[in-house]
Amino acid sequence: MTAPKDTTMEPLVRLDHVHVRHKARSGGILRRDAVHALTDACLEVRRGEILGLVGESGCGKSTLARVVTGLQRPTEGHVYFKGQDLWQTSAAERRTRFGASIGVVFQDPSTALNPRLPVRRILRDPLDVHTRGTPAEREQRVEELLDLVGLPGHTLQALPGQLSGGQRQRVAIARALALEPELIVADEPTSALDVSVRAQVLNLLVDLRARLGLGMVFISHDVQTVRYLSDRIAVLYLGRVVEEGRAAQVTGDSRHPYTEALLSATPSLLERPRRIVLHGPVPSATNPPSGCPFRTRCWKADDICAAAFPEATDGPGGHRWHCVHPQPGADTAAPLPGRAAHGG
Ligand SMILES: Nc1ncnc2c1ncn2[C@@H]1O[C@H](COP(=O)(O)OP(=O)(O)O)[C@@H](O)[C@H]1O
Ligand SMILES: [Mg+2]
Repeated sequence: MTAPKDTTMEPLVRLDHVHVRHKARSGGILRRDAVHALTDACLEVRRGEILGLVGESGCGKSTLARVVTGLQRPTEGHVYFKGQDLWQTSAAERRTRFGASIGVVFQDPSTALNPRLPVRRILRDPLDVHTRGTPAEREQRVEELLDLVGLPGHTLQALPGQLSGGQRQRVAIARALALEPELIVADEPTSALDVSVRAQVLNLLVDLRARLGLGMVFISHDVQTVRYLSDRIAVLYLGRVVEEGRAAQVTGDSRHPYTEALLSATPSLLERPRRIVLHGPVPSATNPPSGCPFRTRCWKADDICAAAFPEATDGPGGHRWHCVHPQPGADTAAPLPGRAAHGG
């Protein structure tokens, strides 16, 4: 192992050309196709930021979440945690150092929490496993955690089944925070909840980020939810990151047609010039289209799009997209300098 260097300028997590191919669940014994769950993903999660990941079901969001949390080893490519190659470190170090630094919150708290254990045990478990502090300190930490997520003290005796969906998700968030992680990965954390409690759980996450200075990867199929709480957004389509940038850029000045289509399909306060309706299904991840995977549903696609996946185009401020026929940028439509301020 090389000598530790100063890694404070490094992003917390960096994916470098990551591919994940699964063996298809269906298919014969002799020939099992590969599912291209993630293809050539390059992405950074910076300290203290909320990175939103958005895309339709099956586009690889959960796979990316599993890569970022070290639960899924990439088929190709590298994952760096503070500059250190995650899969070049020993399993023990990966568990202790990396495992404790990243907390995970899954979609469905009713399956993520052990139904037989009272909340007290659920929250103590990670502290026991990582032998954090004395037993008395652990008890104290458990109460602190409960307080942090806004649950009353008597919740500690309850079994998950005795709590509401929203309360269960708060317990799951408290557990994810137990080891004082630097990053929380939340994979559709409100999708399984009643609409009435979704906003509360989202606001809790935003509030925790502000209070604890956490970084967060927030995953949702709903672009409006992602827009609401993210600093930066990455848009996935069929295993590819097709656009990324600051939330205002990606949602207010989207350049990839797919991003535009996602935004136009969901109600929003912003007027969109026209509603884009996507035709046809999302192609199979077992046999993705050549070139740009979106071309089979894109109204701008031509022969060039079938040839190769487009290289990234870099716009200002870290905004980048992969498209040879991008949407016109906001600055293209802006009035000429010097003429904007005149009242007529
Ligand atoms: N363990 C697995 N084995 C085989 N295929 C998988 C596995 N996990 C995910 N996939 C497939 O990989 C693709 C991406 O899945 P996933 O990351 O769960 O997407 P999302 O979370 O965006 O819905 C899908 O086509 C899915 O069916
Ligand atoms: Mg998923």
